[in-house]
Amino acid sequence: MSDAVPLAVRRLLLIAGLALLVAAPAGCSSGPWVPTPTGATCPPEGTDLTYENFGTPFMEAYCVRCHSSELKGAARMGAPIYHDFDSKIGILNVAAHVDREAAAGPDAIDRHMPPNGDKPTDAERYDLGTWLACEEQALGNPPDGGVADASLAPDGGDGDAGLDAGNADAGPDAAQ
Ligand code: HEC
Repeated sequence: MSDAVPLAVRRLLLIAGLALLVAAPAGCSSGPWVPTPTGATCPPEGTDLTYENFGTPFMEAYCVRCHSSELKGAARMGAPIYHDFDSKIGILNVAAHVDREAAAGPDAIDRHMPPNGDKPTDAERYDLGTWLACEEQALGNPPDGGVADASLAPDGGDGDAGLDAGNADAGPDAAQ
């Protein structure tokens, strides 16, 4: 008898705790968001995704209204400079940034970008991760280590590629 109530209470607490655990990583937009390398890799058989059939239409649909080399000042709506996605090299120069903001893979589904308006589906985000990984592989870059982001690669892009390591150039404002 003395155990009955505490047990019930403990069960309620357990259920509440589990509910929180399940809800938090599910991507509720109010929760703290940490940009997470997706761990996406290029499949052994390669991919049919190309800049022409995927990269261009994806960026035009969701990104270039803010991230374009043709937009200056306030027209960028806060999008940082050197993050221009109206060219292939513009994307690949910051491939690791794009991956951890907008792509999906085995380690994360990153839905931070775009901040408003039409959003890609998760399937499109997985394609973005795959396309970036294959482009990076073709360039000879390590996974999650874009041309400008090689410093993120030392831990092998294993899901927290240097973002917490306090390396000086992890942010968008770093000279790159
Ligand atoms: C409405 C304007 C807007 C759109 C559309 C948009 N962004 Fe952004 N983007 C921003 C702003 C503002 C920032 C800086 C603040 C922030 O990071 O939240 C930013 C920052 C970024 C960064 C740099 C973050 C970092 O720390 O490296 C990347 C990468 C990025 N966006 C990718 C994308 C991608 C990919 C898309 C399309 C899927 C996209 N954005 C769509 C406004 C936009």
